[in-house]
Amino acid sequence: MMGRMRLKRLLRKAYNVFPWARRRGLRMELLYWDNWFDDPRNASELAYRLDPDAPVDEVWDRLLSALPTQARVLDVGAGPLTAIGKIFRGERIDLVASDVLAPEYNRLLANRDLKPPVRTLYAPSEELVRHLSPRTFHLVYCRNALDHASDPLQSLQEMYRLLEPGGMIYLSHYPNEADHQQNAGLHQWNFNCRDGQFTISGKGTRYVVNDLFEHVTALRTEELVIATIRKAAVSVDSPSSRISLA
Ligand SMILES: C[S@@+](CC[C@H](N)C(=O)[O-])C[C@H]1O[C@@H](n2cnc3c(N)ncnc32)[C@H](O)[C@@H]1O
Repeated sequence: MMGRMRLKRLLRKAYNVFPWARRRGLRMELLYWDNWFDDPRNASELAYRLDPDAPVDEVWDRLLSALPTQARVLDVGAGPLTAIGKIFRGERIDLVASDVLAPEYNRLLANRDLKPPVRTLYAPSEELVRHLSPRTFHLVYCRNALDHASDPLQSLQEMYRLLEPGGMIYLSHYPNEADHQQNAGLHQWNFNCRDGQFTISGKGTRYVVNDLFEHVTALRTEELVIATIRKAAVSVDSPSSRISLA
């Protein structure tokens, strides 16, 4: 007999085919963040995100050390308050944050009288170039958000177009979140890495990102799948010679 969990998951998968399922997923995400602010366990993280003078953490120190000084950084799917610190080697970093729920998040902040040091802008990852100028970022970062997108591959193409030549996309995600979360809410995509191959699977499709973009690296740590995509220093403005821009 089919287990209850498996049945629940199959029903969720069937339900998620409908457009209103995405809208419901976004409402659930908003509710998550509304509760997040009021949970005392998040107090120190909230204080860090609100601090305009918070120094970057170790990961960001390493990332920014590899970039030109005054590098321009974009945090895609940043949530209401980007988790990236604001100061690197005594200087304020040039940081932009974007999210599909930005207007709703900004209302959550206003209701609590909170002033974000970097206000999140509205830009669905699938249409970044409509909202931000191509070839203007040295680093496009996305943590725990690309796997919430409705179309992660389209989103990657958009991120790529925003990169300056020589720039890099840096992705940090939990492996197989759709499986882990049993396809609840926005969790419809599994990200994984095996032998340096970065894969995205869900909704009946599977992409090997290394086959679609050039200069991809991927590794799986105990907790995370970390992938990078570099744009060649000399490049035509196309996401990849292997993907059509149509
Ligand atoms: C789990 S939160 C992660 C937030 C933040 N990156 C962090 O690590 O704290 C996922 C975020 O992805 C956003 N998101 C989901 N789909 C998106 C899309 N298509 N474009 C932009 N943001 C999206 C959600 O609104 C949410 O803020």
